[in-house]
Amino acid sequence: MDKTRTIRLGVNLDHVATIRQARFTPYPDLIEAVKITEQAGADGITMHLREDRRHIQTEDVFAAREVVGTTLNLEMAATAEMIKIALQLEPDYCCIVPEKRAELTTEGGLDVIANIRHIADACAKLNQKNIQVSLFIEPDIDVIEAVIKTGATLVELHTGKYAISSADEAKYELQRLVSAAEYAAEKGLQVNAGHGIDYHNIAVIKTIPHLYELNIGHSIVARALFVGLAQAVSEMKTAMIAANDA
Ligand code: PXP
Repeated sequence: MDKTRTIRLGVNLDHVATIRQARFTPYPDLIEAVKITEQAGADGITMHLREDRRHIQTEDVFAAREVVGTTLNLEMAATAEMIKIALQLEPDYCCIVPEKRAELTTEGGLDVIANIRHIADACAKLNQKNIQVSLFIEPDIDVIEAVIKTGATLVELHTGKYAISSADEAKYELQRLVSAAEYAAEKGLQVNAGHGIDYHNIAVIKTIPHLYELNIGHSIVARALFVGLAQAVSEMKTAMIAANDA
């Protein structure tokens, strides 16, 4: 019997666009990156269309929609502008994230409890077009309780705190992720995770139960500088082979 399980790899290509936008050049070609990433074994492509357009541009997501043969995950804030774009784009799913202009990257999970009506409204609009909605959240049980009331069917657990935790904090942060994954799965939610995952911490991250998909960007694009994008993707895919849930 096969004792391994496959966790899907969603590759976040934002930082390919970061390099392009640093000089406003036509290269590196994001669509070529999409093709190489999929050929190398990625199960999905993720792009975060930020309100400030610091990396991915609106036209990028529409160009990607034309060529993505796996699944396209549009990460976005739940603003009227982004919902309008998502309804036109029809990605396979949207991951709703909080967004602050000054942040270097998405800093915390969505405050679903405080914004439950607004998020439920966004989910209803997206669901009408058969776009599934994932909510990027801190691994907390009370947040998952709120997610259930929004109509979202997926959660993406924020692994960022675990990724930067000290040796003392790591056990606690990992346990939060494990408990949240167990609770979300028990409630019928699909469990994804992401943020700050790299070639080292993947060994522990993949032990979190019920993981369906991991979304990984920065570490893969950084590794691609040395070994090329295809190898960087395939090394991560190999590193993600995990033992079966008990
Ligand atoms: N998931 C979400 C919701 C994110 O906002 C990001 C960063 O854009 C990622 C995953 C990927 O994180 P990283 O680039 O640290 O791998």
